[in-house]
Amino acid sequence: MPSLLALQRYYAGIFEFKGYPMHFLLVLLIITFTCLLPANGNVHKDFYIVFLKDHHPLTTGRSILETHLGVLSSIKESEQDASESLVYSYTRSFNAFAAKLSEDEAKKLSDMDEVVSVFPNQYRKLHTTKSWEFLGLTPDSKRNLEVESDVIVGLLDTGITPQSESFKDDGLGPPPAIWKGSCKHFANFTGCNNKLIGAKYFKLDKGHNPNDILSPVDVDGHGTHTSSTLAGRLVPNASVFGLGQGTARGGVPSARLAIYKVCWANSGCADMDILAAFDAAISDGVDIISISIGGETSRYTKDSIAVGAFRAMRKGILTVASAGNDGPMSSTVVNHAPWILTVAASGIGRQLRSKVVLGNGVNISGIGVNTFEPTKKSYPLASGVDLSMNSETKEQSRYCLDNSMDPSKVKGKIVYCKLQAWGADSVIKSLGGIGTVIESDMFQDVAQIYMAPATMVNTTIGKKINDYLHSTKSTSAVIYKSEVIEIRSPFTASFSSRGPNPGSQHLLKPDISAPGIDILASYTPLNSLTGLKGDTQHSKFTFMSGTSMSCPHVGGAAAYVKSFHPEWSPAAIKSAIMTTATKMSSRVDKDAEFAYGSGQLNPTRARSPGLIYDLDETSYIQFLCHEGYKESELAALLGQGPINCSKLIPANGEDALNYPTMQLSLKSDHETTIGVFQRTVTNVGAPVSVYNATVKAPSGVEIVVKPTSLSFTRALQKRRFKVVVTVKPKQDGVFGSGSLTWRSFHHSVRSPIVISNELVVTGTASKL
Ligand SMILES: *[C@@H]1O[C@H](CO)[C@@H](O)[C@H](O)[C@H]1NC(C)=O
Ligand SMILES: *[C@@H]1O[C@H](CO)[C@@H](O)[C@H](O)[C@H]1NC(C)=O
Ligand SMILES: *[C@@H]1O[C@H](CO)[C@@H](O)[C@H](O)[C@H]1NC(C)=O
Ligand SMILES: *[C@@H]1O[C@H](CO)[C@@H](O)[C@H](O)[C@H]1NC(C)=O
Repeated sequence: MPSLLALQRYYAGIFEFKGYPMHFLLVLLIITFTCLLPANGNVHKDFYIVFLKDHHPLTTGRSILETHLGVLSSIKESEQDASESLVYSYTRSFNAFAAKLSEDEAKKLSDMDEVVSVFPNQYRKLHTTKSWEFLGLTPDSKRNLEVESDVIVGLLDTGITPQSESFKDDGLGPPPAIWKGSCKHFANFTGCNNKLIGAKYFKLDKGHNPNDILSPVDVDGHGTHTSSTLAGRLVPNASVFGLGQGTARGGVPSARLAIYKVCWANSGCADMDILAAFDAAISDGVDIISISIGGETSRYTKDSIAVGAFRAMRKGILTVASAGNDGPMSSTVVNHAPWILTVAASGIGRQLRSKVVLGNGVNISGIGVNTFEPTKKSYPLASGVDLSMNSETKEQSRYCLDNSMDPSKVKGKIVYCKLQAWGADSVIKSLGGIGTVIESDMFQDVAQIYMAPATMVNTTIGKKINDYLHSTKSTSAVIYKSEVIEIRSPFTASFSSRGPNPGSQHLLKPDISAPGIDILASYTPLNSLTGLKGDTQHSKFTFMSGTSMSCPHVGGAAAYVKSFHPEWSPAAIKSAIMTTATKMSSRVDKDAEFAYGSGQLNPTRARSPGLIYDLDETSYIQFLCHEGYKESELAALLGQGPINCSKLIPANGEDALNYPTMQLSLKSDHETTIGVFQRTVTNVGAPVSVYNATVKAPSGVEIVVKPTSLSFTRALQKRRFKVVVTVKPKQDGVFGSGSLTWRSFHHSVRSPIVISNELVVTGTASKL
């Protein structure tokens, strides 16, 4: 479990890189015309930015440059080649360089020990759902349009906004012939078409909130947002009051959508409705299910989503689900069954920040979506604690809580307060205040949307404001409209739920990371931007954050892979997505794989994984038997008579599962632990190919692969191997993670190998 200190470090880690590209001091600029030309023949080269471990504070610029050249030389033909390819050497705010590299060279660099991360330089333009381009799925990416329009994705969510431009059906023919679902037009719900081919609602309990509508219509906005992220058509000039302007799109703009409304205002999402929706979606004929809903972390046999997903898997449907928003505490991940693709949330390299200018000329920066432009140059600034109604409400007024402040004192002012509950901006507005500066030591990576001028600052900045407030009698400030700022990425969102998996100590969860911070997608006209009373802001698009937002990115990628390989099993699609993920850095995310799983989603690579780790229904049953599930419990999951575990061929190996990742849980700190993992890969790449194993082991751990080379002579041929992981007792009890990568000429199939020595606790997560 990360301590509070670890948490602070985590935030500090991000903020070291936060900021404005123009502040990054450019010490050296070596651009020669030759390096802008392709260096050797036809190998395509692009600019990449390479981050190295922080250098020693006393290191001089010159020796840093030498280090950069040294690193670069190790993967280049010659020193001259290295110095010609280097374009920027950043030596002040961070230790990094920019260079022109081939994909292969970038890959080699990213595998080096001293390299923290490598990412391609992007040519910034005004984009909206930047997240897909960020993941490498660009308008130029290969698509299999004919099949894509045959892929049907089902979402279990809060419903949909059919009139949204994201769900127009221009150019789409009638639904695929296998489609058995329906899209009923209710009195209050019209607009089904050849894009939105299914819409149903499930609500069995009687209680009904008058603000909701008994139809698939989305009064919340969540379902509209996730659906458009997954499969929305291209909509140019989307933005939130001009913020994040660009073209909005989903991952598979031609795929068909079927919406199953299972979540309702106030009552949430009932298990019974969820199961009914799974049932309907499976028989309607969807290909992929995306569910951004979390449930209890109980046994797989008692979790409606795990059960629904198991049934879906049997029919060849992959379920993609969100990991939960209960991070950064450990063992909070939900939806962790082995047949589910469990998605963590990461950042996409932009932040929404507002400038605050104090009366003393100091400019500070806060995070959040503030759509308001100030009308004056400055307003009086006061601390909430000095505006209290009376001495008894002083403590509450420090947090700008309702009924704690004197309206006559608040009127016309910008108020500074500490965060206790969301909505301080609304309290200040209702009292006639102008704006709010909220201080918090948490949530610094997500932009909250405000209904009145407001922004959120960290404690360092909070102290500056406090000092200013005490330095002089007449204090003033102004809060500007938010701007989009570029930041370093990827990193795991602080809120994203972490492993270890409370459901099984043999299974790494989450599986994969995808963008889930400040995602811009379609919204409903039936809700205000904040969803709070008194908010008059409405927009066709909005920013949302959560693993709810990262989940449809992976759902879209799954549909994208399916459009190239319609015959692949759910486990094959899942394996393709996991083994091709872009490695993330444990130096950025201290929780490493427990935060980000296999790494960052890379949809275009997932199209062609080379090898897959396949699994079928029997494999999962063998796994559950190995986990000690009782036969009666299994019966509930399978929906059939008891399965006799002793009559099954026992699956062997540490985890008894052909999973694309490996996790070894230590039983004791004082003894050597040995885990043997049995794996089988299926060749889905070139029929004749050879793969060689590359192993990385953290210190104190030995990893041996047998055999170290796999030869294939035909498509779909299977090859077995085993991985022996030996963990020696360690004084500090801290182990890093390793990996196994199978490499062929064209492919690289990577599996993280994680050592877990944390106690597995059964958490109780709430609905997301
Ligand atoms: C607080 O925010 C400022 C500006 O955004 C940043 O420079 C500083 O490093 C942050 N401090 C911490 C402790 O995160
Ligand atoms: C919406 O349509 C459904 C089904 O036709 C109906 O039951 C419901 O009463 C309608 N109106 C509202 C406001 O929910
Ligand atoms: C694009 O959107 C902005 C903000 O919503 C609006 O002001 C502008 O007129 C739009 N431009 C076009 C070409 O539609
Ligand atoms: C602070 O921001 C204001 C308004 O954008 C600008 O005019 C001023 O130059 C900035 N001051 C500093 C010290 O950066």
